[in-house]
Amino acid sequence: MAVLGIDIGGSGIKAAPVDVETGEFLEKRYRIPTPSPGNPDQVLEVIRRIVDHFQWQGKIGAGFPGVVRRGVVETAANVSHEWVGQNLASLITDATGCQAVVLNDADAAGLAEMRFGIGKKFEDDHVLFLTIGTGIGSAFFVKRELWPNSELGHLQVRGKDAEHRAGDGVRQENDLSWKKWGKKLAEVLQIYDYLFNPDAIILGGGVSKKFKKYGQYLTGIQAEVIPAELRNQAGIVGAAMAAEESIIID
Ligand code: BGC
Repeated sequence: MAVLGIDIGGSGIKAAPVDVETGEFLEKRYRIPTPSPGNPDQVLEVIRRIVDHFQWQGKIGAGFPGVVRRGVVETAANVSHEWVGQNLASLITDATGCQAVVLNDADAAGLAEMRFGIGKKFEDDHVLFLTIGTGIGSAFFVKRELWPNSELGHLQVRGKDAEHRAGDGVRQENDLSWKKWGKKLAEVLQIYDYLFNPDAIILGGGVSKKFKKYGQYLTGIQAEVIPAELRNQAGIVGAAMAAEESIIID
């Protein structure tokens, strides 16, 4: 079964048709930079271009960087605030004629990682999956079952959002060494570990492939901390899976 997966991010909108049984892309991924400031009209225009590019007619699954309930966006921390209150699922259907399911981007990436990535190893466990980019996204899994719309990137760590302490944006903006940034990430992970006691913490997002450079600084955490395997494919694959399984978060 093929579904068009779309990952809506603050800097790029990425998409590919996905075989949801294998998690493989059926065509080369297509990326369009998110037009600034990334308001609904602009993003929908990009989605229309993506649908044209693949000449797509089937189902669409989309991941969005905020809380999404029954297709409606409830928060938008790192994208235009005009999104709040918009029913993104129906807007996509109106714009493209395709049936659409929308969920949080980290929930989407976590679903894919649990089914097709390193998460397979932890399918009987309690897993905290994180996507670390500009923001920190989170998804909880209890024996592969998702608890949606957790927002651990906004948990307060010494008076600041966790994502403003240890997001990858902090590393890049301040040109931090892997060691310095790794220690910041450790502080955040220690708090997550202490509060939620997962069996494993899986780190996704762009920095997952650099794990060797900072993994040794992630100390003081009881959970097993491991990098994700699917890299930047996960958000697209998981959004497609959610559409196929009609995972409507309510
Ligand atoms: C948002 C989350 C999102 C994460 C990663 C955070 O700022 O609040 O909903 O999952 O960024 O994109």
